[in-house]
Amino acid sequence: MEISLLLEAVYQKYGYDFRQYSQAHIGRRVRNRMALSGINDISQIQSKVLEDKEFAYQLLQDLSITVTEMFRDPEFYKSLRKNVIPILKTYPFIKIWHAGCATGEEAYSMAILLQEEGLYDRTTIYATDFNQLALNRAKEGIFSNKVIKEYTLNYQLMEGKKSFSSYYTSSYDHVIMNQSLKKNIVWANHNLVTDSVFAEVNLILCRNVLIYFDHDLQNKVQKLFYNSLIGGGVLCLGSKESLHFSTLEEKYSVLDKNQRIFKKKY
Ligand SMILES: C[S@@+](CC[C@H](N)C(=O)[O-])C[C@H]1O[C@@H](n2cnc3c(N)ncnc32)[C@H](O)[C@@H]1O
Repeated sequence: MEISLLLEAVYQKYGYDFRQYSQAHIGRRVRNRMALSGINDISQIQSKVLEDKEFAYQLLQDLSITVTEMFRDPEFYKSLRKNVIPILKTYPFIKIWHAGCATGEEAYSMAILLQEEGLYDRTTIYATDFNQLALNRAKEGIFSNKVIKEYTLNYQLMEGKKSFSSYYTSSYDHVIMNQSLKKNIVWANHNLVTDSVFAEVNLILCRNVLIYFDHDLQNKVQKLFYNSLIGGGVLCLGSKESLHFSTLEEKYSVLDKNQRIFKKKY
């Protein structure tokens, strides 16, 4: 009840709507912020959110989990290459939407895959998130050296065709992704809960985002995806996400059950 009031306050004052996020996720993150800030009860956090803009934005950051990787779940990318690339090859122009792109690794992975398949020049990638800080980092395409070893391994596991290091320039403690990967990516702030259809696209990837939503909100966002996809378009979800609770399940055929890849029926 108190958390509901807190989320209502965040929505009324700042326009960010977390009211239908999973209670377990919100509860965990709010308790964590309370512990870090030495706050003992929820009513205190409510008034702090209303009075202290900086604190409110800190809480918004807490509620948006931006953990991501390049070529996250390499088997998924192998399946994309096998099952989805042949479909994309039939289109003269390709539009792809990464919904909830966090700091951009998924969009850069897609750009690499498309370059290797000779499709990148006819593709526009729309990479969206409601977290502007994450989007700013995504646009820069600068990643710490610490994660590059893991990204390289993922790339090798998905059977990338080149050396992963050919896609970036190394600097002292970080790498900068090649400009040729950035050129067809449009980064945009879009909130899946409060904003409408983004564009008409051939492929949507929304991985590891819907797990934070309750079933009604998942359904609502699934409708948004359905309306954004062309007939025959492809929807990719994360490994813990499915169309099971969606009223739209029968409007898709399954391209890869394990990798959660679905094709919109005509
Ligand atoms: C765990 S990351 C997933 C990143 C990437 N898709 C992946 O699978 O590696 C979840 C992202 O969803 C974003 N997100 C959460 N709620 C959102 C909303 N209502 N609208 C847009 N993005 C949202 C978060 O900001 C975060 O960047």
